[in-house]
Amino acid sequence: KKTIVTGIKPTGKVHLGNYIGAIKPALELAKNKDYQPVYFIADYHGLTKIHNGEELRDLSYGIAATWIALGLDPAQFIFYRQSDVPEIFELNWILSCFASKGLLNRAHAYKSMVDANQQAGRDPDTGVNIGLFTYPVLMAADILLFKSSLVPVGKDQQQHVEIARDIAEVFNKAYGDTFHLPTPKIEKDSSVILGLDGRKMSKSYNNTIPLFEESKKLKKLINKIKTDSLPPEAPKDPDSSTIFSLYKQFAEEAETKDFHDRLLKGIGWGEAKQELFQVMDRFLSEPREKYHELISSPAQLDDILTAGADKARNIAAPFLKEIRGKVGL
Ligand code: TYM
Repeated sequence: KKTIVTGIKPTGKVHLGNYIGAIKPALELAKNKDYQPVYFIADYHGLTKIHNGEELRDLSYGIAATWIALGLDPAQFIFYRQSDVPEIFELNWILSCFASKGLLNRAHAYKSMVDANQQAGRDPDTGVNIGLFTYPVLMAADILLFKSSLVPVGKDQQQHVEIARDIAEVFNKAYGDTFHLPTPKIEKDSSVILGLDGRKMSKSYNNTIPLFEESKKLKKLINKIKTDSLPPEAPKDPDSSTIFSLYKQFAEEAETKDFHDRLLKGIGWGEAKQELFQVMDRFLSEPREKYHELISSPAQLDDILTAGADKARNIAAPFLKEIRGKVGL
């Protein structure tokens, strides 16, 4: 079986960008029985940002509950917390000895922080910890340890997957074919979901719509989505509209077509937002309830995650042993 790997870091509530860019396609791919899904909570990655133990733990439970509420079946999937699989962390060190610093200087999570500092006239490395800098190496370990073929992610992670490939190639050149080269799987349509302000939806921009926001708040947030100021009767361009890009993710095909046509003819944004809310709330109300049930029993989530970590370690340990042998450890 081919392996599909993806992770989400617990740095905030799961939002529509995470769902549409990664979770939804990842669950879709997992329906193919030729694939073994390996999905995880990237809590070590979360630690680069969240420096409060209780908060990090709760955010991790939130991600676990989100996946399960949306249909991840722990019996079929390998589903775990990254920090429960120490082999990942050990491989992280080995890989860091094959990752050039120049490559990491260009990695975007680090670079965007440096750029922001420079723009604000601060020292370029203000607020940058080494964990953030070496973030792509840990991500390479996540991916390469499970010989992943496909990595379903949003566009913002493409570069990181390419870095994982680069590191794998350097290693393979030195020791012979060891790592499988992963390919990022990015949905054309939904590679960058935009947030309330029209920039990429991101926890760090504070412009997100949390996936499991309660109904009333969800409606309020949808109403805040920035739109152009065309009058109601003016034709709207569906393809450049955040409202439409979200709508089609939650609606049936026929509804989507109808909505598309009506936007082109001209309907008011207020009405369009109301319809978006309806299709979203229709889809989300059941998983939202399940999510709340799950986060209220962390012991149950712990059981699921530890069982998942055992499965992951059964795959990871023998491969890591092989790698250690190759490099002379
Ligand atoms: P993270 O936690 O920032 O985001 C999780 C996933 O959501 C996608 N995403 C988006 N997609 C479309 N539009 C958006 N506005 C949007 N915002 C977020 C991300 O691309 C990602 O797929 N480094 C990763 C976590 C990670 C990982 C891995 C992923 C760690 N190890 C190994 C894959 C494989 C991250 O920070 O994702």
